[in-house]
Amino acid sequence: MSTHVKPDNNAAYPEQNPRTFSDLVQTLHDQSTPPTLEQITSWLESTVISREDLRPYTGFKEGNYWRHRVCKNKAVEMLVLCWRPGHRTPIHDHNGSHGVVKIQEGVLWESIFTYQEDRGLSYKSGRECPTGDITGAGVPDIHQLGNPEVSGQDLITIHIYAPPLGVLHTYKVGSPQIDLYTPDESET
Ligand SMILES: [Fe+2]
Repeated sequence: MSTHVKPDNNAAYPEQNPRTFSDLVQTLHDQSTPPTLEQITSWLESTVISREDLRPYTGFKEGNYWRHRVCKNKAVEMLVLCWRPGHRTPIHDHNGSHGVVKIQEGVLWESIFTYQEDRGLSYKSGRECPTGDITGAGVPDIHQLGNPEVSGQDLITIHIYAPPLGVLHTYKVGSPQIDLYTPDESET
């Protein structure tokens, strides 16, 4: 009698974890199925990323944060977001994707919300993530990210989503209304 042992990708870690930014991009490129939250977190924790690595994806604009796509396939995508003080996302979920954020430079504020059919959206908690933090968002997290106005500094964050983000849901506090939101693809 033979025993079939299912390959366990996690068994190879941390030996196969990416070490450089280009290793990380290659690792993402090689994925044919969406990696887990734990895998993505482990990859980001093991990778040393410099400002020079992100130079092609670093650029700011007034009015709104700027999304720069590093790579995307059907399993996973990576983005670099550049925020001036006061820039923030709408309140949103990831419509079935999970994601991990690394704070490369600056301070990120995250607000978490809960949604109930009868009460609509309500605020749950908030937190501050300093430079170097790696934070995951499972399913179904509803949140808002931003660079606080009072930070007085730019914010650069690295985002990995699996599967890639499509149309998202947006919410308003105190309202049961859920709208659809497509992140601006024209500039990524
Ligand atoms: Fe998000």
